[in-house]
Amino acid sequence: MAPLLFFLLGLRLAALPVDVAALTRHDFPDGFIFGAGTSAYQVEGGVAEDGRKPSIWDTYTQQGYSVNKATGDVAADQYHHYKDDVKIMHEMGLDASRFSISWSRLIPDGRGDINPKGLEYYNNLIDELLQHGIQPHVTIYHCDLPQSLQDEYNGLLSPKFVDDYTMYADTCFKNFGDRVKHWVTLNEPNVEILGGYDTGELPPQRCSYPFGTNCTAGNSTTEPYIAAYHLLLAHASAVSLYREKYQVTQKGEIGITLYAPWYEPATDASQDVAAAMRMNEFTLGWFMHPLVHGDYPPMMRSRVGARLPVISMELSKKLSGSFDFIGVNHYLMLRTCANDTAFNMRQRNYWADAGVVDPYKYMQEGHAEYGPWALGKLLDHLRVEYGNPPVFIHENGWPRIVKNLSEIETDDDPRSMVLQDFLLVLYLSIRNGSDMRGYFVWSLLDVFEFLNGYGLRYGLCGVDMTAEGRTRYLRKSARWYSAFLNGGELRPPASPKIPFYDSA
Ligand SMILES: *[C@@H]1O[C@H](CO)[C@@H](O)[C@H](O)[C@H]1NC(C)=O
Ligand SMILES: *[C@@H]1O[C@H](CO)[C@@H](O)[C@H](O)[C@H]1NC(C)=O
Ligand SMILES: *[C@@H]1O[C@H](CO)[C@@H](O)[C@H](O)[C@H]1NC(C)=O
Ligand SMILES: *[C@@H]1O[C@H](CO)[C@@H](O)[C@H](O)[C@H]1NC(C)=O
Ligand SMILES: *[C@@H]1O[C@H](CO)[C@@H](O)[C@H](O)[C@H]1NC(C)=O
Repeated sequence: MAPLLFFLLGLRLAALPVDVAALTRHDFPDGFIFGAGTSAYQVEGGVAEDGRKPSIWDTYTQQGYSVNKATGDVAADQYHHYKDDVKIMHEMGLDASRFSISWSRLIPDGRGDINPKGLEYYNNLIDELLQHGIQPHVTIYHCDLPQSLQDEYNGLLSPKFVDDYTMYADTCFKNFGDRVKHWVTLNEPNVEILGGYDTGELPPQRCSYPFGTNCTAGNSTTEPYIAAYHLLLAHASAVSLYREKYQVTQKGEIGITLYAPWYEPATDASQDVAAAMRMNEFTLGWFMHPLVHGDYPPMMRSRVGARLPVISMELSKKLSGSFDFIGVNHYLMLRTCANDTAFNMRQRNYWADAGVVDPYKYMQEGHAEYGPWALGKLLDHLRVEYGNPPVFIHENGWPRIVKNLSEIETDDDPRSMVLQDFLLVLYLSIRNGSDMRGYFVWSLLDVFEFLNGYGLRYGLCGVDMTAEGRTRYLRKSARWYSAFLNGGELRPPASPKIPFYDSA
């Protein structure tokens, strides 16, 4: 996708409202925070140290399924370098750090005994951040289920997951909640299960013919909905627990982070316009609708039918309003079009239920488009359809594809440019009434990427993945972000200007 971005940047023309040309961070609301993020398996390394046991991601990568057989065994080795990283964040001027706790480091068997070394590590990390004036924004579960729970009861497919997850969350609140004021129950539950239970490409690699390749176990037509339902239950359960037992004394906030691309129709034809809206419902509405209205979107119910779990009245009440904020991971605008053939098949998976052409395939076939304006549409949709929830952008970033892993690259002006375009759109959304609370770049450092191993770099800071000590170095984007955080002006988008869909 990367080379295409440059190409498209040169093509788009649109007017930019004059008064956003020299924005600084002071134009964002009071208390709005800027940070950067990582997740445990992707950054820590030290996977077999100090009592940590495998998660489903360890199993998957150690069996060589990842791109180029990459693993997170060492990753950026943050387990041994967290002090250096906090120092970098401090020097850059970040307000906040988004990271996740490794369940299998804290409770190696998934339930039962706490690992004292795991507890110590996260206590140290949190204390180090606070000593440097950086807020910890902590994700409890970021796709890395303990392998033991997968083995014992098929992980997310069992309601037992909900109980074990709730106990794990309780352990986090109890031990870290005196200092952590921003909790995220789950990261991207609305896409995690597609790789794991529909196509089977990602752990735990469950799928069924003809929807995946090499499926040994699973059912692509039913399991994604069941796994997603249990994640929703787990979220609601952790939020209830936090609110009943901790929130009054600890005075923190709790929310969920959703994968949120924005879908646009590939043509103006009414069936494609409807297909794009369906995809927004299937992606964002799948979780947002239950969290706000207590049930799945009616359109999903009618298309998925009995395979979509029934939400009881009691659960509906528990779900409605079960968040203090919504986290949004936004990278892409995706085009899609209707595929009625898929919807008319006797056996349907997620994409077929939505009745669309797989937007990722469509993109890879050359229909990628640079559209930071789509973030504005997404935020507008959240504001109008879901009662204007408080929102953090939890991930937004720009990848570079690398072939030669020992190459050190510091020149990443396109990254700074793209991030600035997104920040301008964010500013316009705020001015339009969206309740935005903060913005996190993905990622602080180069990490192990779930979809691409080390072949994609998102880091503001680079990491030499071939050096024993995983040496860090600042990229130009880190210097740009730091200057912005210290009061610098956002550069007006490089000419020709970025395509705002609305010049408010
Ligand atoms: C499917 O399994 C075969 C045989 O084990 C292997 O060669 C092939 O790479 C696998 N395909 C995928 C997509 O994993
Ligand atoms: C998946 O589950 C559905 C509903 O139980 C069933 O009709 C279908 O045969 C199953 N598919 C596979 C591949 O087992
Ligand atoms: C539409 O769906 C059918 C059935 O899954 C599939 O064979 C076909 O390739 C899809 N069409 C496009 C354009 O993706
Ligand atoms: C990869 O990059 C390193 C460091 O720049 C360089 O020494 C090496 O020759 C490169 N390898 C290839 C195959 O290009
Ligand atoms: C602002 O809100 C209006 C009304 O909902 C909408 O039409 C417009 O597209 C929004 N603009 C942005 C930048 O969000």
